[in-house]
This record gives sequence, C-alpha cells and structure tokens, in this order.
Amino acid sequence: MGCLTAGEQKYSRGLEGVIAAISSISCIDGDEGNLIYRGYPIEVLAKYSTYLETAFLILYGHLPTEKEFEDFRENIKSNYELHPGMIDTIKNFMMDAHPMDVIRSMVSMMGIFCKDKREFSREAKYLKAIRVIAKIPTMIAAFHRLREGKEIISPDKSLTYSENFLYMMFGEKPDELSAKVLDIALILHAEHGMNASTFSGMVTASSLSDIYSAVTSAIGTLKGPLHGGANERVMSMLDEIKSLEDVKPFIESALAEKRKIMGFGHRVYKAYDPRAKILKDWAYKLCEMKGDLLHFKMGDEIEKIMIEKVGKRGIYPNVDFYSGLVYTHLGIPRDIFTPVFAMSRSVGWTAHILEYLESNRIYRPRAIYNGPIDLEYIPMEQREE
Ligand code: CMC
Repeated sequence: MGCLTAGEQKYSRGLEGVIAAISSISCIDGDEGNLIYRGYPIEVLAKYSTYLETAFLILYGHLPTEKEFEDFRENIKSNYELHPGMIDTIKNFMMDAHPMDVIRSMVSMMGIFCKDKREFSREAKYLKAIRVIAKIPTMIAAFHRLREGKEIISPDKSLTYSENFLYMMFGEKPDELSAKVLDIALILHAEHGMNASTFSGMVTASSLSDIYSAVTSAIGTLKGPLHGGANERVMSMLDEIKSLEDVKPFIESALAEKRKIMGFGHRVYKAYDPRAKILKDWAYKLCEMKGDLLHFKMGDEIEKIMIEKVGKRGIYPNVDFYSGLVYTHLGIPRDIFTPVFAMSRSVGWTAHILEYLESNRIYRPRAIYNGPIDLEYIPMEQREE
C-alpha cells in the first residue's frame, strides 16, 4: 500500500508554517508587529487613505491616479444595488438567521442572478470582485432593516462607502467621526495574507470555479469564532465581566482554567497586532464622543493583565479586541460585527483569488493515513450487532 504514514512526511497541524502561494499583496512581520499592503505600512494608509482607495491599491497593486480612482469609485457605486430577485428572496429568509449566513447565501445567489455568469475573462473576474465589494454592505443593511420590520433603504451614491453603509443601516447620514472610524476599521481589516478565509476562497477558486463560489467559501470560513467571529465574543465577555473591578478575577480564573480570551493571540503575530494599536486609539475617541468609556476602560484593563500574564508567550491583543468596541459604539448590532469584517475583507479575498488565478494550480494537499489496511469484507448479514 502506498499510503502516506506518520514519520514518512512532515505534518504541520493547521498548516502552520506551510507556504501555499507567492503573493505581492501584503506582508506581515509577526515578530515585530508590522503589516504592509502592497508596500505601504498600514499606519500610513490608516492616516492618509480611505477604504476605497486602499481597496483599489490591494486589488490593482498601486495607488490610483485621480482618474483611476474616479472610475473605480463609480464602478463600485453603480454596483451597490441588489437584483430585485435577490431582494425578493431575502424577504423570505428566516428573520432570526445569523447575518453571516445571510450574506454567505446572498453572495452565492449572485452567481445565479449575475448576467455574465458564464464569462470567465480576466476583466469579467475583476468586475465580479467589484460587485461583491459593492453589494455586501447593501445585503447586510437590507437584511438588518427587514428583520427590524423596517423598509430597506436604497444606497446613497453621494456618500462615501462607509457613510453609505451606516446610512443604509440606520436611515441617517452619520457624523464625521463615526464615518471616519468605520472607514479606518475597514482599511485595517481589508487584507491579511494567507489567513483561513482567504485560503479557503483560494482553494475553491483553484478548481476554476467562479468568484462568487470562492467568496461564499471565504465567508463561511470567516464566520467561526477562532477567525472573524471573535469580536462578537469579546463583547459577550465584557457583558459577562460587567464591571472594571471584576476584570482581574475574571481573567485570572479564565487563564487558570485554560480558557481562551477572545481578541487575544494570533497565529502570525507574536507581538502587538499593529491593527489593534491603531484601532485602540480610534476606539477611545469614539467612546469618548459617545460619552461611554466603561467598555474601553475594561478592555484596557484586560489588555494590561493579559500582557503581564501571557505577553511573554507572544499573546497580545489582536484587531478583533478593539473592533467590537468600535462597532458597538457605532450602534452596529453584535451579530453584524463579523459581516462588517467580511465586507472589508472581500477586497483581500478577491485580490488573492485573482492573483492566484494568474498562475493557477489546483490546491491538492495530502493526509497521512493512520487507519487500518487489508481488512476483510464481511457480508452485512454476517456482521455482529
Ligand atoms: N487566550 C488565552 N490563551 C491563548 C489565547 C487566548 N486568546 N490564544 C492562544 N492561547 C494559548 C493557547 O491556549 C495555547 O496554549 P497551550 O500551548 O498551553 O495549549 C497556545 O496559546 C497556542 O494557542 P493555539 O490556539 O494553538 O494558537 P493558534 O496559532 O492555533 O491560534 C488563534 C491562533 C487566533 C486561533 C488563537 O490565538 C485564539 O483562539 N485566539 C482567540 C480567538 C481570536 O481572538 N481570534 C481572532 C484572531 S485575529 C482576527 C482574525 O484573523 O480573524
């Protein structure tokens, strides 16, 4: 038997350290806590760029000229609307569905309602990527309004991508700081190398399936609490702790019981996640403006205790520790935190998929076999109960 058996090949649990692609999209220095997109440090992009400009950079590899940006922005905006067939379908969804299940199903549905579904040119693939980036915010907001018994709000193309999302969710144009903080959160979540959801989208795309199927896979993977779902759990943890005084005993007993603290730790970062550092400052500004610093102070206290207790093991806050705080103070419901992550990461997913397809080879790893061999087939009637 030619099965791979233990000892013959190196097995890396969770594919840790395995190189699965060559990419020029982003680079993470996990030891120093640095992240660059297409050569630009995220600190610089968070300071000077916007989500849509960063999206262009990630997708096309360079910062856009004015003309390129104008065309890109128009292309995104002209694709905001959902097909009427999709709106009819969403109205029939169970209103207690998780919004991640809703957007996963709706992106999948885009493959049905897409007019050029059988078009696989490079240009058509980019257009499909743009449609996904444009439509996810509309899907999230439409479902949220419907489940609240409210009318769906049509996109307002005069607003920025972030302003428009908040407008479609809540029916009014957001204040400047709220829109800015959301835009920065979207920049910080837009891309992160070969993470689980990106890899899963690439695996689907590598069979020469289509962009919508690949993004559907990625959304399903992002949903889990070890990946995008962590920010939702951070807020549940703060609820459970309740007060500043209860932070220390809670964290100490959680660590003693070997429970994971959500929003901490990372497979690649063994230093402070640079995205968390930026978001923490903006979370403070937002909480201060909203006049509610309790969650921020609890988060800060958790961070201090965790760094003291497990920092030397390379466990620091990750981006999701402060994103939950930001989204809460933007009025975004908890079960929509991860969909907002998906809305932003749609750029990173599609950029990696498009890049990989340029020199595609189907992903096909192997497994070490540790089961029996040469068993005798016993007819069913002779098998013992
Ligand atoms: N709290 C306490 N201990 C932790 C934590 C944590 N958050 N994260 C890791 N550890 C410990 C873990 O218990 C294990 O200890 P031991 O060696 O004694 O068994 C050790 O560190 C290694 O943990 P691991 O789970 O094997 O590490 P990993 O590289 O497979 O996992 C991770 C990375 C992000 C899944 C993990 O750190 C985790 O579960 N964190 C909490 C969930 C979270 O915040 N996820 C968001 C990640 S950032 C956004 C994103 O990429 O989606």
